Amino acid sequence: MNPAIGIAIYGTRMYDRQSLSTANAAHGFSLQFIEAPLTALSAKLAAGCQVACVFVNDAVDRPVLEALGQVGVNLLALRCAGYNNVDLAAAEELGIVVVRVPAYSPHAVSEFTIGLLLSLDRKIHRAWARVRENNFALDGLVGRNLHGRVAGVVGTGQIGALVARALRAGFGCEVLAADPIVDQELVDIGVRYVERDVLLREAEIITLHCPLTPDTRHLIDARALSAARPGLVIVNTSRGALIDSAALIDALKQRQVAGVALDVYEQEAGIFFDDLSSEIIDDDVLQRLLTFPNVLMTGHQAFLTEEALAAIAQTTLQSVEDFAAGRPLPTRVIAAQVRAA
Ligand code: NAI
Repeated sequence: MNPAIGIAIYGTRMYDRQSLSTANAAHGFSLQFIEAPLTALSAKLAAGCQVACVFVNDAVDRPVLEALGQVGVNLLALRCAGYNNVDLAAAEELGIVVVRVPAYSPHAVSEFTIGLLLSLDRKIHRAWARVRENNFALDGLVGRNLHGRVAGVVGTGQIGALVARALRAGFGCEVLAADPIVDQELVDIGVRYVERDVLLREAEIITLHCPLTPDTRHLIDARALSAARPGLVIVNTSRGALIDSAALIDALKQRQVAGVALDVYEQEAGIFFDDLSSEIIDDDVLQRLLTFPNVLMTGHQAFLTEEALAAIAQTTLQSVEDFAAGRPLPTRVIAAQVRAA
């Protein structure tokens, strides 16, 4: 038991509190649940804690890391896989080790991706809204079969590989993939690796599963959208900035794109994960996206299963335990090493 080790858990929601408290029975850390996001100001709330624990939308830049360092934090634990929101170089310089949860449940995200695609394509969300109003008319609900369509999967890591497999082996799509690393097991079931530009040009459905890097930022931009097949369907459960939202709105207005399902959005920080139903939202791009009948949006929910939450909590607390005991952290959880790899 480690009551002397404090963990300041930023952006805490009810489900985080439950899963981390359950996992902490095996560790006995002193958990400080903080609803506010991590900022240079709220960093002070970590005073007395060795560890700060954050989620996807906390912008952990140099000033925030400096503020954490000043109150004695020497471990930053991301309870997510992506780490594009952290200035890793600054963390290294300040002697703050960064750990993440590289794999908690790729099934959670891949299954949600397929769910979004089916809902969008078969208009299930719109049908449900109608039926609740006793409107059983089918006009406007005509969908398309997945079977036989060309689906492009950008990024065939843990999540993308499961999506590619479901689309190929489950639904009988023709599947194109773009990833610098070829997954031979996918090739064996008929997935065809091509250059990213070829995929963007030839796919009827594009689903994004690569990390956000300088190379992938706005990979769906005005150029890609104008070169894409008419009737394109796009699904993004990875990171919002993979898509240029303004260019996407133009393409939707020009009827170039048949449908878009988004679990993530470029400017989601400060909006997602909160109930803003009584607020006025200033983000005109988000509000415009929500007006299209062929855009289906969820609030960064793809990870949210019981299994994933339990795995996130267990891995996060185990990393703290290993770090505190001076045990070498498994390479997979040191973000700085991941970056260098
Ligand atoms: P992973 O690291 O297993 O796979 C990423 C793949 O992308 C790798 O195979 C890599 O080679 C490939 N890749 C890297 N650069 C590329 C490029 N320029 N073009 C094409 N492929 C490229 O990651 P995993 O676990 O599959 O996660 C994928 C993404 O999903 C994460 O980066 C994260 O942003 C997002 N995610 C979203 C969640 C949600 O709740 N919506 C939850 C978990 C992850």
